[in-house]
Amino acid sequence: MTITIKTVSTSPFEGQKPGTSGLRKKVKVFTETNYTENFVQCILDANGASLAGSTLVVGGDGRYFCKEACELIISICAANQVSRLLVGQNGILSTPAVSSLIRRNKTLGGIVLTASHNPGGPDNDFGIKFNCENGGPAPDQFTNKIYELSTKISQYRIVEGLEIDISKIGVNKFDVGGKEYTVEVIDSVADYVLLMKEIFDFDKLKDFVSGKSRGGNPLKMRIDSLNGVTGPYVNEIFLNCLSATKESVVHTTPLPDFGGLHPDPNLTYAKDLVDAVRAGDYAIGAAFDGDGDRNMIIGHKAFFVTPSDSLAVIGHYLECIPYFQKNGVTGLARSMPTASAVDLVAKSLGKEIFEVPTGWKYFGNLMDAGRLCLCGEESFGTGSNHIREKDGIWAVLAWLSIMQHTGKSIEDICVEHWRKYGRNYFTRYDYEECDLAPCNDMMSTLEKTITDPGFVGKEFSAGGKKYTVKLGDNFSYNDPIDKSVSSKQGLRITFTDGSRVVMRLSGTGSSGATVRLYIDSYEKDNVLGQASDMLKPLIDIALEISKLPTFTGRNAPTVIT
Ligand code: G6P
Ligand code: ZN
Repeated sequence: MTITIKTVSTSPFEGQKPGTSGLRKKVKVFTETNYTENFVQCILDANGASLAGSTLVVGGDGRYFCKEACELIISICAANQVSRLLVGQNGILSTPAVSSLIRRNKTLGGIVLTASHNPGGPDNDFGIKFNCENGGPAPDQFTNKIYELSTKISQYRIVEGLEIDISKIGVNKFDVGGKEYTVEVIDSVADYVLLMKEIFDFDKLKDFVSGKSRGGNPLKMRIDSLNGVTGPYVNEIFLNCLSATKESVVHTTPLPDFGGLHPDPNLTYAKDLVDAVRAGDYAIGAAFDGDGDRNMIIGHKAFFVTPSDSLAVIGHYLECIPYFQKNGVTGLARSMPTASAVDLVAKSLGKEIFEVPTGWKYFGNLMDAGRLCLCGEESFGTGSNHIREKDGIWAVLAWLSIMQHTGKSIEDICVEHWRKYGRNYFTRYDYEECDLAPCNDMMSTLEKTITDPGFVGKEFSAGGKKYTVKLGDNFSYNDPIDKSVSSKQGLRITFTDGSRVVMRLSGTGSSGATVRLYIDSYEKDNVLGQASDMLKPLIDIALEISKLPTFTGRNAPTVIT
């Protein structure tokens, strides 16, 4: 069958504005006639003249509509003069794998089909995100361009007659309007596994995990892929490369609806893992989100490592990882709401520390400029400059390396860390799916309150503790590399003892508003307390200042992490 290029008339859809991490909507929205086609055409157009003759990577987390969207993208790219596509087998590629493929193959970018940690299935979410040639999520200027194009689009281009089976690995060549168009269906895991082998000492890790260097006792671990995309990667790395026991990995088949699980690795949604590790005798438990960039680490009896502490501990031990021995350690970074434990590590290492807005894309420039090698976010993201996305499996391998290096348990590693640096108690309260209008009111009222000059110096008391306001603002970030300014990135109140209350609206939801309240409180000596007790006074104060229960009608959060 000959392949013909077709131009299809269309009209704009409202709201094709990428959020913190791409465009996320209900599957029903993406499957409306022309909805996905429009958005993909705008992504391609936003690349301007670089698109013709380019190579792109395409793949996603295997959620419902992933494979169909992937096939659609193959046909749209063909009609838009892209010359080569690298497509994950069956449309499967984790987000870190896409980032790695873009970088190793020096492609123009990649299209990632995922709504990350949002539930999947016909009644849930789908998402499309563009990553640029550095392998990282497109920056604001780029996504604004996509959005602008989406408000004016009048036609898209697509080919007809292109037949391809993306379940078969292989190189497919087509003639599109006299030009060669290549679609390479690739093994979803091979490149990523190679990358991990370049970073970590797999021989040492294998001896540690299999038990060879532990008197023949295999490491007891429970790695939970929550039926997301990491399953095949986990099987290859932990079972085949590191010889972990079969029972060490669970939920490793990517399913279109994640088997009904909510693929968000936190104490609420990965409860099954937490319960199993609490009841069993595991040295480490870990879970990932749908697309494999987030991670949660827990130790023996479900000892919880906050993402902020995980970042700080990895920072402290960077030099036990071959990649950092070879490439050196540069600056460290965290997102603004993330507790500042890593700042203390950077200080002690004599390295730069950066505080960026929420969103992995803000780390990219610093990494590209060679200023940053390790970063993380409270939202269960940890990663390094090996790619330009956060990387869940990388984080587990980093923790295994630290356990192997120190010979200590996860809890002991953390307690030792707190004894040296002090402890940042941290919690996040999420109020999901609230009505948008009252949340916007709450945020603007709170902004007025905390930016009033009279707010500084105010005292608040609760539970026998007193806090004095040092600063109140709406966080604004000046990118030190490209000098761009990102304003209104979250309301924050800093108290004189360094404790902080941060409030922002989520940028990753697909409907309504999710309010996030972050509480960070530093203790130099009192490091073995219960986080919920230690933070209660500050939480009460935050609720009082923001009047959150009145505005949202909610008396309790939906999720606590
Ligand atoms: C995604 C991004 C992260 C970001 C998170 C915040 O996972 O990749 O970099 O921290 O979203 O989501 P939120 O819902 O708080 O905007
Ligand atoms: Zn994700």
